[in-house]
Amino acid sequence: MIADVVVDLQYGDCGKGKIAHALCEMNEYTHVIRYNGGCNAGHTIYHEGEKFITHHIPCGVFYGIKSIIGPGCVIHPDTFLQEIEALEEKGIPARDLVFIATNAHIITDFHRIEDKKDEEIGTTKRGNGPAYRDKYGRKGIRAVHDPRLQPFLIDLYRELHENDSHKNISILFEGAQGFGLDVDWGDYPFVTSSHCTVGSAILNGVPAKSIRDVWGVAKIYETYVGAKDFEGPDEVFEEIRELGQEFGSTTGRPRQINWLDFDMLKMAARINGTNKVVFNKMDILEAVDSWCLYEGPNLYEFKSRNDIEIWLSSKLELEVDKEIEVFFSDNKEHI
Ligand code: IMP
Ligand code: MG
Repeated sequence: MIADVVVDLQYGDCGKGKIAHALCEMNEYTHVIRYNGGCNAGHTIYHEGEKFITHHIPCGVFYGIKSIIGPGCVIHPDTFLQEIEALEEKGIPARDLVFIATNAHIITDFHRIEDKKDEEIGTTKRGNGPAYRDKYGRKGIRAVHDPRLQPFLIDLYRELHENDSHKNISILFEGAQGFGLDVDWGDYPFVTSSHCTVGSAILNGVPAKSIRDVWGVAKIYETYVGAKDFEGPDEVFEEIRELGQEFGSTTGRPRQINWLDFDMLKMAARINGTNKVVFNKMDILEAVDSWCLYEGPNLYEFKSRNDIEIWLSSKLELEVDKEIEVFFSDNKEHI
């Protein structure tokens, strides 16, 4: 069994959907598995020129690959069924390809009502936190007990470990949210309620030794949505927000913007053991011709795209892993 993992090194919305989609095209996966989060996520994917936003459903559906919502996830059944319907209407055979692990948990309407009252964290109000609280408090409801989800259930242990027809299992793990929102490593309490690191993928039922590539996804600048103050003082951020369409794909909220924080990026890359790192949205900084990042309290300003690329690549090689492969992407559809 081999598994590649896509993790976000910042605060979500770095373009994991795009990377996962591109990896499905490059590799022959037997399964794509979402390993954390719920419909708080919003993955924007351009498939054959058309724009899709998925919340629960992994991107394997676009390539005819079995797509599983793993036991680390929480699911709101109505939202899930609507998503299946919307994909089917656009000609994606989601009904045949999407499965839910029997031991994933349900987001109830009560969880949603409770989450709507949140003012402190600035959640997506999708019921995520209350659903995980009830899961860990041993009061939750597993997918196997929801009548609406019966047609989609899968026993993940049998599927991955006892299925003779899939001797060579090859999995792409698609993560949600990001390192800065991780319940343990993020800026608590301004975090989500799940784990957003590579460890979270392993919790979904595969041996640690099956992990091959860990793709860390970042943006060349940072964004965050939620209640804390995050945006830096630079006037160019307004322009970046418009050009980069930095508005939440789940809630439509404007994302706060700041320059890349290299210390956090390095920490996320180290803890996840990323051997590939992608910086997305180079085209946006290209358009405003501004290249800055923070290292500790110092703000560095670079003369050109080339200068910042060399700085980032060499720092990651020196301080994270000398074998690391670094990519800079300026395209919505490809790495
Ligand atoms: P929750 O996950 O809805 O409980 O929200 C907790 C925090 O995580 C809030 O700051 C949300 O805006 C943020 N968050 C949750 N999901 C995402 C995401 O997919 N992208 C970016 N931020 C997210
Ligand atoms: Mg998103």
